[in-house]
Amino acid sequence: MRFPFPFREDRFAYGVNLEPHWRGDAARFDIDEHYLGEVAEREIVLRGDASRYFVPQDMRAAAWEALALIMEALARDFPGLFALEVEENDWRWRNLALGLEQDFVFGDDGSLPYGPLEFVARQVQGDFVLLAQLGAELVLRGGMVTAAAGWSFAKNLGKSFHQFHQPVPLAHQMGVFDRAQKFLTRLTPERPVRRLGWSMTAQPRLDISSENEAVWAMDRSRVTAADVGEKVWLRVELQTLSRLERSQAILFGIRTYMLRLDELVRVRKWAARLHRVMGSLHPEVVAYKGLGHVLPLVLGYLAPFDDGGVLGPGAGPEQTSL
Ligand code: HEM
Repeated sequence: MRFPFPFREDRFAYGVNLEPHWRGDAARFDIDEHYLGEVAEREIVLRGDASRYFVPQDMRAAAWEALALIMEALARDFPGLFALEVEENDWRWRNLALGLEQDFVFGDDGSLPYGPLEFVARQVQGDFVLLAQLGAELVLRGGMVTAAAGWSFAKNLGKSFHQFHQPVPLAHQMGVFDRAQKFLTRLTPERPVRRLGWSMTAQPRLDISSENEAVWAMDRSRVTAADVGEKVWLRVELQTLSRLERSQAILFGIRTYMLRLDELVRVRKWAARLHRVMGSLHPEVVAYKGLGHVLPLVLGYLAPFDDGGVLGPGAGPEQTSL
C-alpha cells in the first residue's frame, strides 16, 4: 500500500505547501487495493444524499475536460484496469475492474448515463471539485464530494477561495491563502501541482462530511487509552490541482489515504515524527481539527516510540521492511 506521510519536519505550521504533481513518475489519479470498496461506498453516499454532486450548466465544458483528463490518465497509468479508445468524438471507455463498457460521443451529455463528471468520478477513488477563475479569485462551482473531511460541499458551492477557507485558523493572518490563490491563478495545464492535508479520525470512515456528522461525531469521543492504537487513524488528503486547457477551470482532486496508528508505528521514523508534530499543535489547530479528546491519548500512545533523537529530513520512511 501507499501512504503519503505528510510531515517533513518535527513541528506543524500552516504554509503554502504546494509542489509539482505528476512528473510521469507516479499515477496522476491513484488507484489502489481499496478501489472496489471505495467505489461502492461512494455509491451508497450518493444514493442517500444527492447534494454531494452538482455541476451547473455553464461548467459542463469543464466537466467534459475533467472526464477526458481523468480517463486518459487512468488508461495510461493503469492499463490492466482501464482502456480508452478515441476516434475523434467517438470514445469507448472500458473499466475492466468494474466490468463496464461505454461508448459515447465526447461533448454529448445524452450519450452517457450520468453527467460527464459524475460518470467518471463514480469510477475513481477520491473527490473532485471544479473551480472557475473570475479575475484574481477562484470560485467553487461544482464537483462530486462524498468524503469531505469535516465540511459540506453543498454549503460551499459558489464560495470564493477565501470564503471556503474561512473556518481555518491562523493561516489567513499568515497570508497563506493570499499567496496560495495568487499562485493558483497562474497554474498552467502543463504543470499540475499538489499538496497534502491531514486530519485524525476514529474509524476509517470516508464520509466525515458535516452532513454526516451525527453518524461520525461520536467516534472520536469514544476512544480510550486502551484502544487508541487500533481506533485512531491518520487521514491524509493528497490534493491535486490541474488547469483545464480550454475552459480554464481548475480541477481539484482530493484523494484520501488512511493509516491506523498501530500500523503507522511500525515505521519508526513516522511514529517519532508524528509524536513531535502532535505535541507541537497550536491550541486553535487542535480545536479546529476536533482533536481535543484524542490528542492526549495519541501523545501517550506514541511517546514510547520517540527517543528524542534527531530524525532524518523529509517524510520518507527510512526503512525497507516493517
Ligand atoms: C483550490 C482548491 C481548494 C479547495 C476547493 C479547498 C477547499 C477546502 C475546504 C472546503 C476546506 C475545509 C474548510 C472547513 O473547515 O470548512 C479546506 C481546508 C484547508 N485548505 Fe483548502 N482548498 C483548496 C486548495 C487549497 C490550497 C491550494 C491550500 C494551500 C495553502 C489549502 C489549504 C487548506 C488548509 C491549510 C486547510 C485547513 C485544513 C488543514 O488544517 O489542513 N487549500 N480547503
